Amino acid sequence: MTMHEQGHAAQSLSAYRAQLLYFHDDAQAEDEAVEWIVDGLLVVRDGHVERVGEYASLAADLPPGTPIVDWRGRLIVPGFIDTHIHYPQTDMIASPAPGLLPWLETYTFPTERRFENPEYAADVARFFVDELLRCGTTTALVYCTVHLGSAQAFFTESHARNLRMVAGKVMMDRNCPEFLRDTPESGARDSEALIQRWHGTGRQMVALTPRFAPTSSPEQLGRCAELAQQYSDVFIQSHVAENRDEVKWAAELFPGYRSYLDIYDQFGLLRPRAVYGHCVWLDDDDRRRMRDAGAVAAHCPTSNQFLGSGLFDFAAAQDCGMPVTLATDVGGGSSFSMLQTMNEAHKVARLSGHHLSARRMFWLATQGAARDLGLSGRIGTLAAGSEADFVVLDPKATPLLERRVSYTESLEELLFALAMLGDDRAVAATYAAGRQVHTRSR
Ligand code: GUN
Ligand code: ZN
Repeated sequence: MTMHEQGHAAQSLSAYRAQLLYFHDDAQAEDEAVEWIVDGLLVVRDGHVERVGEYASLAADLPPGTPIVDWRGRLIVPGFIDTHIHYPQTDMIASPAPGLLPWLETYTFPTERRFENPEYAADVARFFVDELLRCGTTTALVYCTVHLGSAQAFFTESHARNLRMVAGKVMMDRNCPEFLRDTPESGARDSEALIQRWHGTGRQMVALTPRFAPTSSPEQLGRCAELAQQYSDVFIQSHVAENRDEVKWAAELFPGYRSYLDIYDQFGLLRPRAVYGHCVWLDDDDRRRMRDAGAVAAHCPTSNQFLGSGLFDFAAAQDCGMPVTLATDVGGGSSFSMLQTMNEAHKVARLSGHHLSARRMFWLATQGAARDLGLSGRIGTLAAGSEADFVVLDPKATPLLERRVSYTESLEELLFALAMLGDDRAVAATYAAGRQVHTRSR
């Protein structure tokens, strides 16, 4: 049997031998926060990690005949978590425009219109999920379009592959083309229908998804907040303070609020499991308010640079204690890869004089995100009991990586090389709930 066939067979017990890496806590400074096992064994039963540790101490306990997949020379890390991405923008990634608002008008809205057609939606959902898995992303917070069918198509695809995904139908009832407009009533009704159909179905979870304050009326934000209260464990996702023109526009549409973030706050949309994309132009009061509310920032470095939105202030976020996660924001973002997202996050932080270590970035993309999303212990880790979502990284994936890695002298240098030089090519395989869902063919 090839490794690929093994991955698709319904095996209740299997084991993986490789270098293993996961985190207990923020890996910023302390070595104890990092679990790094050079010759490790990951034992998976029925989609969950059963045991994790040294190969030498665990292998002997395996029942006879347990298949051991040999990934020696590779590094297994928890599946990446992308906390902000738009699946309908797959076909318009890398579209040139002078900034966010013209980009939305020229490319985004016409492309999102195509999701009126459920067959197109299903086709894009399939490709999008393939692409996430190629990049080692096993959980994402996904924007669909305003069409209920776009979300149905996404969840159908994700559920069929048993992936832990969060998604929602965009709510947008003003300042957009008529063909993409819902109403406070229909937006709430469709979102509630999604919650009832999908939230907790298998591994699927729903996010209330008002696109951003400028495209929702006060009535719509109010209806959204009612649902957020009624269903307190669903997610909320939106955009805030991405771009200067957008911030100005929000202030004109909602006069009298202290800040853009304050609009969401006054409507009751800041709470745990509320994830706000960008957070570039927040002030310290906003950042502390995010922290106190338990709301989470999704930092989207490739998007912020691609659209010229601004430089996320990592140091200020840290000083204020604002929870930060990493996200691609495809199609505003220019890569599906969380490794490339780390690369750009590092550079953005550097530009503001802050050093983001590779360990910290891997933590942010795994256990850190899981913790901030209220999914600790389930995803983002290789710890026993967790859902077996993991990625096999190949430090020799390209000639340059192989050469550079041969000179690395520490875990930090290895992870740094993978983040700076790696992308989908560095992902040898991806597993979700213990099943192999991607294998890279060389
Ligand atoms: N703000 C409102 N909608 C969007 C979107 O689709 N992408 C980005 N980057 N920002 C937005
Ligand atoms: Zn976005």
